[in-house]
This record gives sequence, structure tokens and C-alpha cells, in this order.
Amino acid sequence: MNALNKLDLQNIPRHVAFIMDGNGRWAKSKGQHRLFGHAAGVESVKEVIKTAREIGVSFLTMYAFSTENWARPSDEVEGLMNLLVDAISNEVDEMHANGVRLVTIGDIKGLPGNCYQSLLSAIEYTKENTGLTLVLALNYSARKEILNAALATHELLSSGKLNIDEMSDIEFSKLLDTKDIPDPELLIRTSGECRISNFLLWQLSYTELLFTDTHWPDFRRDAFIDAIAAFQKRERRFGMVSEQISNQ
Ligand code: FPP
Repeated sequence: MNALNKLDLQNIPRHVAFIMDGNGRWAKSKGQHRLFGHAAGVESVKEVIKTAREIGVSFLTMYAFSTENWARPSDEVEGLMNLLVDAISNEVDEMHANGVRLVTIGDIKGLPGNCYQSLLSAIEYTKENTGLTLVLALNYSARKEILNAALATHELLSSGKLNIDEMSDIEFSKLLDTKDIPDPELLIRTSGECRISNFLLWQLSYTELLFTDTHWPDFRRDAFIDAIAAFQKRERRFGMVSEQISNQ
């Protein structure tokens, strides 16, 4: 059976976010170095992007490197940065040809210079594209993002550019890294852990959370389609009762 038959193509989430976990465990299970797992993880990223375009997801956010990840062994950090640079240089032309727009959240200025430069040029190159938006979370911390928005609020209030009674959650959202990106309808975390790990803490308020035991390098087209099919079976109530939802 074609896996797509499982899906209601009229009810595809507009934005899916991923915590891509399990590269290390996947590599270990094969007697390989952790970087072998990260390299296989890049293939999953490519396949998920392809599938998202196929089914009509508009935004994908991938948690590629957290501020906490700097604490990993330096050869792993260096290997991850090299993988990122290689993936961008190998894929940017195809991404552009497919209308994919690359954006980032997090403090990319804090990444190694070559990484920062290759991201800047890929962002610039793809900025007019109107197909899928790929959001890479890099050197990202949700708490820092919220703290920065709180500091920016203070600045706006004290300079008189904003009145305190004009402040709202919608206004506050405009000060986050994700200001131009809708909140995700679905978050998928692979590899069995059931936590958020400092990812999109503000934006996930009403997001459906889906945890799967599959390690990220094994998370390919069918796993993604199954996850979306599971999402489509859920009832999203946004604080209302079931009857109100079915009458909408
Ligand atoms: C978590 O697995 C994975 C990461 C911290 C990095 C994710 C990066 C990639 C998939 C490659 C680069 C991405 C792009 C977008 C080109 P883990 O190492 O924590 O696995 P473990 O919990 O099994 O040790």
C-alpha cells in the first residue's frame, strides 16, 4: 500500500518540529563512532525534507545543535560543524532548485567562522524561495531566546517605543527568533526520550508532542508519514471541550 494513503492530505500540519535524537546510540549499536550516526542523520534530514515537500508541509524546524551541545567531546563538536558545512555546500543548489528557503534560529554568530559564513550565504541565496521553509536551530537555547525577548521588551518600554498596555503574547512572539514562523502543530522527538530539552519552550504551548523509539538515522519517509497519520488521529482542543471542536 502506498504510505500516503494513510494521510488526509487536507489536514497536513503546516509546521513540524524535530528533536533529532539517537544518532549516537544508533552508531553504537552498529559498533561505529558517533559521527557515523550524525552522518546517517543528515540522510534522514534530506529524506524528511523531501517527504515534507511531497505532502505539503510548509515549515520544518530541526534542532541541529543546542547551546548545551558545546559540552560534548571536542572531536564530536568539530565533526558536527564539518557535517553541517558539508551538508550545506552539497545540498544548497538542490534546495534552491526545489524552492526551499533556509533560515536559522539561535545564535549563529557563535558558531565557527566557516560554519557561520556558509549559513549566511545559503540563507541569502535561498531567501526569495517560496516553497518549504527549513529552520535550523543552531547554537539554540529556548530559555535564552525568551530571556532576549524579555530584555528587548524592557528596552522598548523604557525607550517609550511600546506602551505597557500594548504588550501581549502576540507582541512578545514578535521579539522571538521565530517571529516570522508559525508555531508548530507537531513536534516529533526520536529515540525514546520524552522531554523537550530547552527547545521552542514558548512556541510549543499548543503543539502535539509525539515521541517515537526510532533512532533519528532510521527515521525516514515511512516513519514520518506514520507520525503525521498519528497526529491526524488526535483531537486538538486548545482548552475547549470536544463538542466545541466538532461544531467548528
Ligand atoms: C542527537 O543525537 C543529535 C544531535 C545533537 C545532532 C543532530 C545533527 C544532525 C542530524 C546532523 C547535522 C544536521 C543538519 C541539519 C545538516 P545524539 O548524539 O544525542 O544521540 P544519542 O542520544 O544516541 O547519543
